Amino acid sequence: MKKAWWKESVVYQIYPRSFYDSNGDGIGDINGIIQKLDYLKELGVDVIWLSPVYQSPNDDNGYDISNYQAIMKEFGTMTDWEKLLEEIHQRDMKLMMDLVVNHSSDEHQWFIESRKSKDNAYRDYYIWRPGKEGKEPNNWKSTFSGSAWEYDSETDEYYLHIFSKKQPDLNWENEKLRDEIYSMMRWWLDKGIDGFRMDVINFISKVPELPDAPNPNGEPYVSGSRFFKNGPRIHDYLQEVHQEVLSKYEVMTVGEMPGVDVEEAKKYTNPERNELNMVFQFEHMDLDSGPGGKWDLKPLDLRDLKSNITKWQTGLHGVGWNSLYLNNHDQPRVVSRFGNDTTYRVESAKMLATFLHMLQGTPYIYQGEEIGMTNVKFASINDYRDIEILNMYKEKVLDRQENHDQVMQSIYVKGRDNARTPFQWNNKPNGGFTTGEPWINVNSNYKEINAEAAVADPKSIFHYYRKLIKLRKQHPIIVYGDYQLMHPEDKESFTYLRTLGEEKLLVITNFTEKEITWNVPGNLEFKAKKILISNYANRNLSELKNLTLKPYEAIVYLGE
Ligand code: NOJ
Repeated sequence: MKKAWWKESVVYQIYPRSFYDSNGDGIGDINGIIQKLDYLKELGVDVIWLSPVYQSPNDDNGYDISNYQAIMKEFGTMTDWEKLLEEIHQRDMKLMMDLVVNHSSDEHQWFIESRKSKDNAYRDYYIWRPGKEGKEPNNWKSTFSGSAWEYDSETDEYYLHIFSKKQPDLNWENEKLRDEIYSMMRWWLDKGIDGFRMDVINFISKVPELPDAPNPNGEPYVSGSRFFKNGPRIHDYLQEVHQEVLSKYEVMTVGEMPGVDVEEAKKYTNPERNELNMVFQFEHMDLDSGPGGKWDLKPLDLRDLKSNITKWQTGLHGVGWNSLYLNNHDQPRVVSRFGNDTTYRVESAKMLATFLHMLQGTPYIYQGEEIGMTNVKFASINDYRDIEILNMYKEKVLDRQENHDQVMQSIYVKGRDNARTPFQWNNKPNGGFTTGEPWINVNSNYKEINAEAAVADPKSIFHYYRKLIKLRKQHPIIVYGDYQLMHPEDKESFTYLRTLGEEKLLVITNFTEKEITWNVPGNLEFKAKKILISNYANRNLSELKNLTLKPYEAIVYLGE
């Protein structure tokens, strides 16, 4: 397998609004990030992925960009950003910027022009259609509730917005628009950045007819995603991005792709096709959702996680490359989700980290994951800030009179604000995130869970992550070894074997809060030589033949 720096890297995602506030206005900022770079260096990560810091009216916290070449005032200035890049590079780390070009903000100059008249030079930068019998052009639903179309009386037409109505979709069919995007990307790359994370990039090619989606239950609006996920020209566009932009730089790319399957992902990430390095797939994040989607809660069956991870591990092996994640700014905290955020918070956070970091692919750590930050429960809907949560609540509780408590429960389990509460730096007020009033409340557990305490405690989750990252640097098998699942039917433990040449790595994890007996798999040929890492003390090699796993235990054996 071809080696590459981005295969050997560990990425850390910063959601700037919630990371560290240096000026007391309650909002994280760029200078705040600079002040915390030594903390990230100590953790040992190689690359920082920075969620959007561009000018934005913040309808969707920066994922609605009104100027791609300016910095959001609340976050600082371009000079601050340049200093950030320099300070990151000085510490031998890299910076990956977020690229949000499926849509812009409705306050972007392009859209302001576009909506003026049907013959405006920018009209065709967006997707406009006349209504159908006095209604929207089709029945697509927005990801953030309601119709995916907004009527504009100025020209008596509707524009498409897969996300909020302040996030109009850009029209990639338009070559001039594509050229503008490419020159903007080159402008950032020429400033010296090291890559892009591309927001919902597999949505940019729509089926041109924009047909109605099947609607057997007669819903007001339904998902039209089959007509824009991995659409007809998507691979042409990405190859063009590569040719016009990426091929000229030595950078890292990851495409965020809801609805991508392994077969499509092979195309996106096969280096011979010149598209992207890797994708963020969502299948493993959908395993605890019922047929009603994200808010339809369902417990995880570990066998589903096993078969899914195995499909991706073996599917992309030797063809493309996996990204590995359990958290980001759109997902609830994994320790609350697949672990236990009370009695076994520390053990289960370490177990989940072991499970993820020993797989093949590039691991991503989301801010706060490395100290085991947990989900939050705000008593009132008014304490939530996320547009997805607020629109969903309004639609279900206020418009359709669904049960308030049930909807709140689904927000507690799945809401995006779980990941967006301020980073907990210390046990001072607001977790040391700000000296002002934070834009969203801090999680009340900050006195116990915070970075200062974690750094001071050699047994903390933080130091465990440090070790995992170090091991990746020392053992090429962690990066390049192939993968084999053991015990596919076991509902409690997840065991897999990695192999590189003569060397083998046996990764054993208990996903339950019980003690369980672990049987040596019949098909396992393995001679253990060393325990690389484990989350309970005093494990020794000889126990492997007769192993009882403690709650959320994880053990990694190196051998042959
Ligand atoms: C995916 C981003 O991660 C999410 O936060 C955002 O709301 C949507 N794309 C729209 O940009």
